[in-house]
Amino acid sequence: MVIHMQQKKENDNIMNYDTVRLDDENNAIIIIDQTKLPGSIELIALKTAEEIWDAIYLLRVRGAPAIGVAAAFGIYLLAKQSSASDYDTFHEEFVKQKEYLDSARPTAVNLSWALNRMQGVLEAHAGEDVSKIKGYLKAEAVEIWQEDIRVCKKIGEYGLTLVKPGDGILTHCNAGQLATSKYGTATAPIYLGEEKGYHFKVFADETRPLLQGARLTAFELQSSGVDVTLICDNMSATVMKNGWVNAVFVGCDRVAANGDTANKIGTSVVAAVAKYYNVPVYICAPTSTIDLNTRTGADIHIEQRPAEEVTEMWYKERMAPEGVKVFNPAFDVTDHELIAGIVTEYGIARAPYTESLQEIFKKREQE
Ligand code: MRU
Repeated sequence: MVIHMQQKKENDNIMNYDTVRLDDENNAIIIIDQTKLPGSIELIALKTAEEIWDAIYLLRVRGAPAIGVAAAFGIYLLAKQSSASDYDTFHEEFVKQKEYLDSARPTAVNLSWALNRMQGVLEAHAGEDVSKIKGYLKAEAVEIWQEDIRVCKKIGEYGLTLVKPGDGILTHCNAGQLATSKYGTATAPIYLGEEKGYHFKVFADETRPLLQGARLTAFELQSSGVDVTLICDNMSATVMKNGWVNAVFVGCDRVAANGDTANKIGTSVVAAVAKYYNVPVYICAPTSTIDLNTRTGADIHIEQRPAEEVTEMWYKERMAPEGVKVFNPAFDVTDHELIAGIVTEYGIARAPYTESLQEIFKKREQE
């Protein structure tokens, strides 16, 4: 059961809340229920495997890095509550729970990346005392969370070198603080720039069908005092043609080895339009979202979501004829040729990506 922890108070600011955090004492993950934003800030506690799975599937917690953090905390909590006393039974239960959580959403690689990392810690201590392993799992989950904050900040620093004060920046979907542990990926340069007085002018695509841009990006940027203008998805060409956009910054759910990038549906349209208007498109990508085992975008599994997300508004008011055929892919792949750079925590990868992404991973290994 989902427990409502807290309701929005007067003058409450979304930026003061953690997107995801661990409440170890109460065996819970506390998340902001993002389906309720921007109307009310509601924190909910997730305790069971089903609650965690549902929260990810229903986008109560969403965005590639945040899903990874939630899964890491989740698998730790489930393992912690295991009554198994021998390693083999503990391992068997862990793998079952891991596979279940991993099945919640297929496109964002951070989900399996975080769960595999947790499994790696478990197996590095094969045969050891189960209660000690639980401690190692907690430490790893907390590290995944903390690392996400450091990584986003680094992406922000590199991203900031690509723009100048007063620039117009367009973004699609929400790759903001609500999609990560802090700063966001695509919003990190914006937040860091704001601290330095850069005063960017941000255009947030509303991002149909689930309106992450309108409900989440516009909300968090506005709450932080950033100059943000909400536009409908079909307006990006107009703002680019008017010369109001100097760069596009977007997040990603999976980057293939050749640089092809899956992100929220509509990103590839923005990228194609941006190419026409000579606006550079930068993908902000923690290395946890780069999947060198996926050769090209054609190999990325694109999640299909329920038709109701298209036929009914977010607020459940029908706006399409009953029974109409619907196509509702949650993500699309932007061809690497449309991407000016992939901004990671280890620097900015440029074409040819097959080589530059390898270099980024070499840097990561050397760390
Ligand atoms: O379906 P969502 O809301 O989880 O989609 C999120 C996105 O597409 C984000 O741009 C991506 O996960 C990057 S978040 C830093």
